[in-house]
Amino acid sequence: MADKISFEAPRGMRDFYPADMAWRNRVFGAFRAAADAAGFEPYDACVVESYELLARKAGEEVGEQIYHFYDKSDRHLALRAEMTPTLARMVAQRQKELPFPLKWTTIAQCFRYERMTKGRKREHYQWNVDIIGEESILAEAEVIGAAVDALRRMGLSDSDFRVRVSSRRFLGELLAGSGIAPERHAQVFLALDKRGKMPDFEIAAMLRDGGLSEAETQAAFAVMDTRDCSGCPELVELFRLAEVAGFADVLQFDISVIRGLSYYTGIVFECFDTAGEFRAIFGGGRYDNLLTTIGGEPATAVGLGFGDVVVTELLKARLGADAAKARVGVAVGFMFPEQRDAALALATRLRRGGERVDLSLRSMKPKKFFSHASESGAAKAVFLGPDDVARGAARMKDLDTRTETEVCLN
Ligand code: HAM
Repeated sequence: MADKISFEAPRGMRDFYPADMAWRNRVFGAFRAAADAAGFEPYDACVVESYELLARKAGEEVGEQIYHFYDKSDRHLALRAEMTPTLARMVAQRQKELPFPLKWTTIAQCFRYERMTKGRKREHYQWNVDIIGEESILAEAEVIGAAVDALRRMGLSDSDFRVRVSSRRFLGELLAGSGIAPERHAQVFLALDKRGKMPDFEIAAMLRDGGLSEAETQAAFAVMDTRDCSGCPELVELFRLAEVAGFADVLQFDISVIRGLSYYTGIVFECFDTAGEFRAIFGGGRYDNLLTTIGGEPATAVGLGFGDVVVTELLKARLGADAAKARVGVAVGFMFPEQRDAALALATRLRRGGERVDLSLRSMKPKKFFSHASESGAAKAVFLGPDDVARGAARMKDLDTRTETEVCLN
């Protein structure tokens, strides 16, 4: 006899059983509601892109994580690791017709061959909100504000999370002020972004490999002690707008936020849980050159990516693992096969009236039915026995208050 083969989803890829789907729906619901409330227009795109588009625009790290393959015509293709290069491609393709500034949103399935750690999978859904063609810091305030709104809609409170914000431009000025030449800054950003994830001596080695002298390496580390952003007008403006929009309390200046992707040019930000238990909840920033590097006309842009994995773990920890379970409105059951049609007719009528009804598929004893109904989280339950069908009416029980009302069966 052949050996029994057992299949599992490939490592890091995800199945969504109903309990997982309940969480996903709750999280996606908040993403969509927050985007909608702030006037972002939904868009979508293909999951497969040309390898070159994705690899060229990512930071080094994401570039190495791309799933790629050759199709039968030898095209080098890849699964998207993020949405931003695709967004830039779509905008560049119709740049003459589109009405700028654009405010676009999507929930994109993304793939990255990552080292698996808590909160990082090889497949995730990433909510994106981006504003393209607006220079003012109001754009940053609007995208961060939308993400904060989504977190609040999911049921988190402001004390659960912090959005740490900095500016690559400001960091560049500080580095230049310490004598580090601007052409070295891109490498310095990549190295300093590793702080906290890599020991400092390895980062120092990366900086020296990038051509920095010992004194410059020390100066780069010293810049990371900056605590005051009052010398950075764009950050001062963002804090002022956050005050007006009601999220200044969750915003924090943090010079160590640099971001791993190479296309950011201005304000950058990342959101973390306050307790520091999880990886980043969302991240984003301003990127001014992406459109031109893929062949479009110059356009400034700002946006963020907000994954479903970390926030779901955080919600489960704060609200309880069962908190997302959807409640059915009414459970309908019956005692013997003879009452089945009457139960189906009642369920149909209630559904037409807008109720969410779970009809038992089999006859059962009342005790079993009512305990199932309570477990399933139904708000109300109706159970049909021979007497109910004979008299043409039954009692609908409110499972919270235990009160009963009559329902007609005809
Ligand atoms: P990112 O920081 O690479 O930025 O990813 C954004 C968010 O996606 C992360 O904060 C996290 O929530 C989620 N995420 C990323 N990788 C994984 C993973 N392997 N497993 C689970 N969740 C993950 C970007 O992707 C930028 N394109 C965002 C952006 C949009 N910037 C401007 N517009």
